[in-house]
Amino acid sequence: MLNLILDLDTGVDDSIALSYAALNPEVNLLGVTGTFGNVTTDMGARNALAVLAMMGRSDVPVFEGAYHSLTTESFSPHDVSVRIHGRNGTGNVVFPAAERSVEKEAASDFLIRMMRQNEDMVIVTTGPSTNLASALMKAPELSSWKGRVVIMGGALTVRGNVSHFAEANISQDPEAAKIVFESGLDVTMVGLDVTMRSRLRKSDAQAWRATGTEAGKAFAGMLEHYILNTIGGDDTYVHDPSAVVCALHPEYFSLLPLALTVELDGADRGRTVGDESRILEKAPKTRAAVNVDSGKVEKELKIIGEYFTRIS
Ligand code: BDR
Ligand code: CA
Repeated sequence: MLNLILDLDTGVDDSIALSYAALNPEVNLLGVTGTFGNVTTDMGARNALAVLAMMGRSDVPVFEGAYHSLTTESFSPHDVSVRIHGRNGTGNVVFPAAERSVEKEAASDFLIRMMRQNEDMVIVTTGPSTNLASALMKAPELSSWKGRVVIMGGALTVRGNVSHFAEANISQDPEAAKIVFESGLDVTMVGLDVTMRSRLRKSDAQAWRATGTEAGKAFAGMLEHYILNTIGGDDTYVHDPSAVVCALHPEYFSLLPLALTVELDGADRGRTVGDESRILEKAPKTRAAVNVDSGKVEKELKIIGEYFTRIS
């Protein structure tokens, strides 16, 4: 059983990643922390609560975290995020609002408390790394924490998706990502190198809708919106769910040990790259996923459709 915390900017692929984790019998989902990114932090947290309710997992606590990056004073979603994830983060499909609210504790405090209690745990971030960086700034001794971190973000062998070099999650808060990569924690980067190799398809959406369930129909509409506004063909990338699959099944991925850092300046801002100042390190604590058995990732995600069938 994998003890897991998900740190999300709950848009479309975050919702699918959350459903996969919430429905997976191999996962002990300890909590969800929310950040800005695809949507504002409060909207993302509301989406996480709604998704958990649809998955029958209203037992999982949700915590609100950073409202903006470490270097900014405010945040509003970028036009491209609104187009891809819809105005509400769920592809403009209205999910039934959850009957509960977020917890009072701040996301970074929850992360600190759980890291202190539990070394046998994985934190998966699928948005900007701000909450985890804030936790490390508040409690620097946690850099010797023995658990694992898996980050959906970055691009090592392919171009970025917001600039030539930068991927969206890293680009939203490069300073935070740099803190996490250089912290000494065990970090696996699941970037565009692998997330673009696996696909969710229109046929998945059609099968979800065919179950006739409210959740299946809502998820189908959300996925179709995402397919249309990302690639625009018959399928789309599997960004955030790939990170959760990698937390559970690192053996599905080719992992390159590499002392990772993030460029902060100029046209390279937000680029994930090997740190030449640490190139002599014999056993780097960070690694980048550079290839994947996409069939295995896609098969894992069938858990979601099976749930919709089960409740129909
Ligand atoms: C990442 O950016 C967000 O739009 C997605 O949710 C994913 O986390 C992909 O670059
Ligand atoms: Ca995300």
